[in-house]
Amino acid sequence: MEKIVTIHLDRGLDTPLYTQLFWQLRSLIKEGVFQPDEKLPPIRMLASELGVNSITVVNAYKQLEKEGLAYSKVGSGTYISPVNRDERSTFAYEEADDLRMMERGQISVKGDTINFASATPTPDLFPVENFKTLVNRVLDRDKGDVFGYQQIQGFQPLRQSICMYLEKYSITSSVDSIQVISGAQQGIDIVSKALIEFGDCIFIESPTYRGAIEAFKSRGARIVEIPIEEDGINLGELEQKISLYNPKLVYVMPNFQNPTGYSYSDEKKQRILQIARAHNTYIVEDDFLSELSYTGSTSLPLKALDHSENVIYIKSFSKIFMPGLRLGFMVVPGRLWNRVLSAKHTSDISTSGLIQRTFDLYLREDVWVEHIEYMKEKYRKRYELFMGALRDSFPGEVNYKDPGGGLHVWFQLPQGYSDEEVYARCLKKGVLITPGSLFYSGSSGRSHFRMSFASVHSDRIVKGVKMVGSVLEEYLKEGAAAGSQTEGYSPFM
Ligand SMILES: Cc1ncc(COP(=O)(O)O)c(C=O)c1O
Repeated sequence: MEKIVTIHLDRGLDTPLYTQLFWQLRSLIKEGVFQPDEKLPPIRMLASELGVNSITVVNAYKQLEKEGLAYSKVGSGTYISPVNRDERSTFAYEEADDLRMMERGQISVKGDTINFASATPTPDLFPVENFKTLVNRVLDRDKGDVFGYQQIQGFQPLRQSICMYLEKYSITSSVDSIQVISGAQQGIDIVSKALIEFGDCIFIESPTYRGAIEAFKSRGARIVEIPIEEDGINLGELEQKISLYNPKLVYVMPNFQNPTGYSYSDEKKQRILQIARAHNTYIVEDDFLSELSYTGSTSLPLKALDHSENVIYIKSFSKIFMPGLRLGFMVVPGRLWNRVLSAKHTSDISTSGLIQRTFDLYLREDVWVEHIEYMKEKYRKRYELFMGALRDSFPGEVNYKDPGGGLHVWFQLPQGYSDEEVYARCLKKGVLITPGSLFYSGSSGRSHFRMSFASVHSDRIVKGVKMVGSVLEEYLKEGAAAGSQTEGYSPFM
């Protein structure tokens, strides 16, 4: 009971009481004040101690359950989950530590592990020689100016060349609407800082990119997951929930989504824009792969169809250029320019002048077009080998959709089989895959996993896919009950 006295709810705040209670309980759980499997205070008792309605406590407990931090036993009460995300290091299993790292966006790759978990290009694809030539030209031309503080919004000539680049994708922009960023992750963080206040609701596709989930959570956002289907977000659910929750933003990846590889149909692209317009909500479009269509069809960004400035467009170059450069840009609706500028300023003042100026030459001199064609051909080869190997060696019960582009494929296991079990078994054979549960904000997704072919050289793709195929065959033969219990491998909360 001593634990309860540390909870303080403030009726003067706009944040609902149940949200305040949820966040405080969440911190207590994360700090280890509540122990795994410990019973939370009975609803009526806690409500009376805090002087609130029972429904406030019920809603806070429900939210904890949704986050996977608690579970309820019928007729008994609500309990702390056996393992919470921040505590996974206490597991005896090495795999658990690796999973924890993945959750934070890092992967531990040992020796000659075949890495289908990372979606980063292999370094041999980086255009080092070209880059060296252009860096030297910039240094000769601009000398010391390269190393001064840069304009917060970005190097002006680069913003001009970005506008010209965007015309190729049918996006109309102005130099003033471009914000240069140090990678798309920073863009997501900046949008979060600029738009989200503690307790605000935001919508994400479910599943989605983990880095975005964490950025939204860091602002204290309430996250609502809308399922993604093979042709884009579930519009019925989006429409139904949007009037209920009035979200600040909807975060989407309309082309070759991470992790599913799914792309929105043209119809869904149009409809989501209409919905956003009607409800005066922003759509944050994370475009990290539009260029990589292998079927010949073009995948226009949503921003190209946005005539009412509802879309905040974030562009990453990490998968198609060099992630270590930390470079990207945003196209920002006019009414958000100032807020975005302040958020960028408090993040890192400006993006590296050397990198911005060099990239400007890339775009101006069409070296970029050649580079993208080169990357696309390399990736296409990996994609074809990967898809062929899947057809040859994956059991029929494991479902997936050919994405036709991008860098990932999303797999669904038959009911009752666990993503983490597949992950652990593959790791033992020297192959890394990504468990699906990493891509959800709540506790769902345990029967999916993602594989990316970006980080595996062509000569190892077939071998690696075959290894995963045989792990799956063996696991499916043993039956759904085999695995986590027998291995002592606890589920991911
Ligand atoms: C969907 C998505 N958005 C953003 C990022 C981060 O990109 P950047 O390296 O440009 O920060 C990633 C990285 O994997 C990603 O998958």
